[in-house]
Amino acid sequence: MKIRSPIVSVLGHVDHGKTTLLDFIRGGAMAQKEAGGITQHIGGTEIPMEVIETICGNLLTKLDIRETMPGLFFIDTPGHEAFTTLRKRGGALADLAILIVDIKEGFKPQTYEALNILKTFRTPFVVAATKIDKIYGWETNKGLSFIQTYNKQAPSVQEQLDTGVYELVGVLHDEGFESERFDRVENFARQISIIPISAKTGEGIPELLTMLMGLAQQYLKEQLQLEADAPAKGTILEVKEEKGLGVTVDAVIYDGILKKNDTIILTSLDDIITTKIRSILKPRPLEEMRDSKKRFQKVNEVVAAAGIKIVAPKIENVVSGSPLRVARGNSEGVKEEVLGEIESIKIDTDEMGVIVKADTLGSLEALVSMLKDMEVPIRAADIGDVSRRDVVDASIVQKDNPEYGVIISFNNKILPSAVSEISSTGVKLFHADVIYQLTEDYAEWVAAAEE
Ligand code: GTP
Ligand code: MG
Ligand code: NA
Repeated sequence: MKIRSPIVSVLGHVDHGKTTLLDFIRGGAMAQKEAGGITQHIGGTEIPMEVIETICGNLLTKLDIRETMPGLFFIDTPGHEAFTTLRKRGGALADLAILIVDIKEGFKPQTYEALNILKTFRTPFVVAATKIDKIYGWETNKGLSFIQTYNKQAPSVQEQLDTGVYELVGVLHDEGFESERFDRVENFARQISIIPISAKTGEGIPELLTMLMGLAQQYLKEQLQLEADAPAKGTILEVKEEKGLGVTVDAVIYDGILKKNDTIILTSLDDIITTKIRSILKPRPLEEMRDSKKRFQKVNEVVAAAGIKIVAPKIENVVSGSPLRVARGNSEGVKEEVLGEIESIKIDTDEMGVIVKADTLGSLEALVSMLKDMEVPIRAADIGDVSRRDVVDASIVQKDNPEYGVIISFNNKILPSAVSEISSTGVKLFHADVIYQLTEDYAEWVAAAEE
């Protein structure tokens, strides 16, 4: 029987090094290309088994699962506090996870949040205690295993590292998990492995990947089995306009096989969309699907787990977070299942409030939750470019309530008709590609107006 690649989600607090770890593994530089230096969407990268074997060397030889497993599919998630929904989505998709913790900073709010997501979904995970190269006095040994590089460090450096690891063991204990540095773990079913690493130098990454493969062998052998012809199941990450292709959706296929001739069922904010695939596009292995500069290849089918782009008619109103199901034969049951999921993604609104626009549902939800925390009422929250209608809407509110007669727009375009309407109505527009900057700018503007 065939087995699919496991989905490995990387979770943790903002700037603790999730994207940089994946950059090391895939040999890329995604972290440097991100606006504001933070991850604001879910990403995905397929890592073939040969690459994992090259990084791990002879550490992997004892595991027989590597002979049948095609590779690992990594999901990168945002660590910034605003993106709870995306962390949950990334966590829900995961077969396995890496919880990233900066060894000097220890557990932070979103580390706890990520741990709770892993608890909820009962996801097997390892802890990567990262940035060990920043420990005072650390001597870098590029790409060496943790044990090799640790043995070359001065006693005082080893001591600092041990202290960092023990602090993590303590916090994890308080959270209900027994853990140990991986080389001292006696019972892998009961104890969480902590692997000290550096995503900059690669130290410890051989053991990190080996431990992940060990978890896959221990827990996933049956879960990963793939029946020939099993219909695909997936989740939509993004809806994007692509030059030359029109509207496309990016999806992670977490189970089954998706074929070019399949009819698929997706959802808009309030309805089901049934459509026939026109083409399936796949990034090359080792390439991040978020990286818009990279070219995708046309394929006739994909086997889970995979990140893909789909071209199809009628998908303009698909929402990110929508489930993707294949309709074969009688699809009523599938439609019911999909309808049930729409309910969970609606946003409550008020008559008097701000207009919120964002590029994807994930970022829209993040922005809405930040505004709700600030007790800012919301009149409308939608995906898509800022249009003349949005400005008219805001100008109605502006007359009675200048503080809320504004548009807050994340990472999308301002249509020309909106620009001219803004200059004639004087509606204030907040527009940025870094999410927390928007709420900060808005708060500052309100404070200044009150003076
Ligand atoms: P978000 O996605 O925004 O939550 O952040 P992230 O967890 O993906 O962190 P990111 O990879 O963006 O790294 C944040 C910063 O830490 C960057 O400046 C990295 O270069 C740096 N960094 C990450 N890992 C390491 C490491 O192992 N050693 C050192 N010295 N710096 C690191
Ligand atoms: Mg990141
Ligand atoms: Na970051």
